[in-house]
Amino acid sequence: MKKILSLTLVLMLAFCFVACSGDGTTDDGLIRIGFAQVGAESDWRVANTNSMKETFTEAAGYDLQLVDCQEKHENQISAVSDFIAQEVDYIIIAAVQEDGWDQVLGEAKAADIPVILMDRTINTSDDNWVAWTGGNFLQEGKDAMTWLNGFLEEEGIADQPMQILHMQGQMGSSAQLGRTKGIEEGVAANANLSILAQQSGAFNKEKGKEVMESWLATYAGEDNLILIAENDDMAYGAIEAMEAIGIAPGKDIYIVSFDSSKLALQTVIDGKINCTVECNPLLAPAVKVIIDTLEAGGTPNKQEYVVEEFFDIKNAEERLETRQF
Ligand code: AHR
Repeated sequence: MKKILSLTLVLMLAFCFVACSGDGTTDDGLIRIGFAQVGAESDWRVANTNSMKETFTEAAGYDLQLVDCQEKHENQISAVSDFIAQEVDYIIIAAVQEDGWDQVLGEAKAADIPVILMDRTINTSDDNWVAWTGGNFLQEGKDAMTWLNGFLEEEGIADQPMQILHMQGQMGSSAQLGRTKGIEEGVAANANLSILAQQSGAFNKEKGKEVMESWLATYAGEDNLILIAENDDMAYGAIEAMEAIGIAPGKDIYIVSFDSSKLALQTVIDGKINCTVECNPLLAPAVKVIIDTLEAGGTPNKQEYVVEEFFDIKNAEERLETRQF
């Protein structure tokens, strides 16, 4: 019995010697990726997480460690610190907020771990990250306003004063900052548009519903209202709040939102959202190109924007079936 136990111990030690590297991480040939994800606040975010999981599989040669940071910056900082301590090969960040990254990214740089930014941009030295890929949030905000101006023309009401209820995303995130800037610039450029109220719905449906309920308590009797919600999920919440008191979304109150998920396209077809401006969450293939390039000793493009469009009643139907998220 003693002999069997000793033999087992020897075999276990031998296995550990072969399978474990000096720093305690597995040496199985997989590329180790630490991914600090914002959270699961929206359909977009879930689709983005799934895109990462489907692309960076073990079968494809990756060990993906995903941390849901529950929309908290401090959770992201500690996730990234853990990845540095584990000596992962790459760190990928979809940042909760733009600011507050200098120190931890300085540490990643000192540890020689390439940092790839996905979706959100951040305020830090360009030396602290190797590449970024995602959507152009400022352009999305501008596109929403261009679409709105055209729509008001077509409806024959471009000369009427219109009041905007502007529901913002998670404050301090590049998605919110970019879209808000594009929307505000568009409002400033059109004398018939004004912002009646502006508040964050944090990119999630429940908060969007709450904010809309409080706005309706004050403004339900106002004419010519437009809701601009900085993502589809908040628009869904707002639609529920409107319907609960007999207001027809998309008709009594026009609605513009962002992301363009399959559900949003269906909601456009149903006439409850007038336009949804695309933000593409299927970013993992572009991140993979960055990693493949680095693995091959090359230099990836510093910034890679994904192509985006918008959907309204003119094109939602024909695009619904092939929509991937
Ligand atoms: O950064 C992309 C934004 O974040 C999406 O518009 C939103 O749905 C998500 O939570």
